[in-house]
Amino acid sequence: MAQKKIAVYGAREGSGKTVVARELAGAFHLRGKKTLLVDMVLGGGQVTRALGLSPEPNLGQWLQEIDRQIKSGRPYFELRFSPEEITSYIQRHYTGLDVLATSPVDFPGQAAGMVEVVVTHLRSLPYEVVIFDTRSGVREYILRILSMVDIVLLVEDGYHYHIQHVAEVLERLREAGVKTDHFQLVYNRMPSVVDESPEEAAANLGLPLAGVLPEHPELRQLRGATNFLSFDIADQYTRAMNELIDRLE
Ligand SMILES: Nc1ncnc2c1ncn2[C@@H]1O[C@H](COP(=O)(O)OP(=O)(O)OP(=O)(O)O)[C@@H](O)[C@H]1O
Ligand SMILES: [Mg+2]
Repeated sequence: MAQKKIAVYGAREGSGKTVVARELAGAFHLRGKKTLLVDMVLGGGQVTRALGLSPEPNLGQWLQEIDRQIKSGRPYFELRFSPEEITSYIQRHYTGLDVLATSPVDFPGQAAGMVEVVVTHLRSLPYEVVIFDTRSGVREYILRILSMVDIVLLVEDGYHYHIQHVAEVLERLREAGVKTDHFQLVYNRMPSVVDESPEEAAANLGLPLAGVLPEHPELRQLRGATNFLSFDIADQYTRAMNELIDRLE
């Protein structure tokens, strides 16, 4: 059984990566897919908080063990972790979704090799889908993940200048040697009439359009919007997320 690995990336901070990673993982899980959500934002990820998980166990503990073994002189390719060891770093959300939670520690300068060990070892677990929440920017470990997954979802909102910026980031990634043919655009939040349409934006970027997500009901509420959580709004978001998944499957 092939394991589908999906990284959620975005050119801009706050474009909605974590929300999309969380909702996507939840929706795959609800479909009965064995799913793992991984917080790959080292030293500052939001997945643990977004799901109300405990701080431990987490990805950082596994990375620290990798670091310890490397410092004791073992080369990366020799590192072996059994499925039981790996599972001991994973938490189960009350819905049954498995999560490799936020690492409180960053590993500047050496994270890329460590992250590669993690991604490679996850293949030995029986997950059908692994979703990686990532961070914007071109840190080496992020480039490594983008190169190792099957699909990169580029989450962007619709303002024209943001889409321009995405084009520049894609160019920088290519210059850094990252292939982008497995990238797909996710248009987060409906554009207003003055913005480019999602289809135009995707065409201008030369990427397939994976989906268009409306305003998330729960988040709209948090911002103090007056409309209460109606079934209709929740249903719109769920439908859009399910259409996105249909396209990924
Ligand atoms: N579809 C949406 N509808 C309403 N609000 C949203 C939506 N997507 C994201 N947001 C809000 O936008 C903000 C940023 O979202 P999120 O944290 O997912 O972005 P991010 O790209 O992960 O940010 P960072 O770069 O800091 O990791 C949050 O307050 C989130 O609640
Ligand atoms: Mg985030």
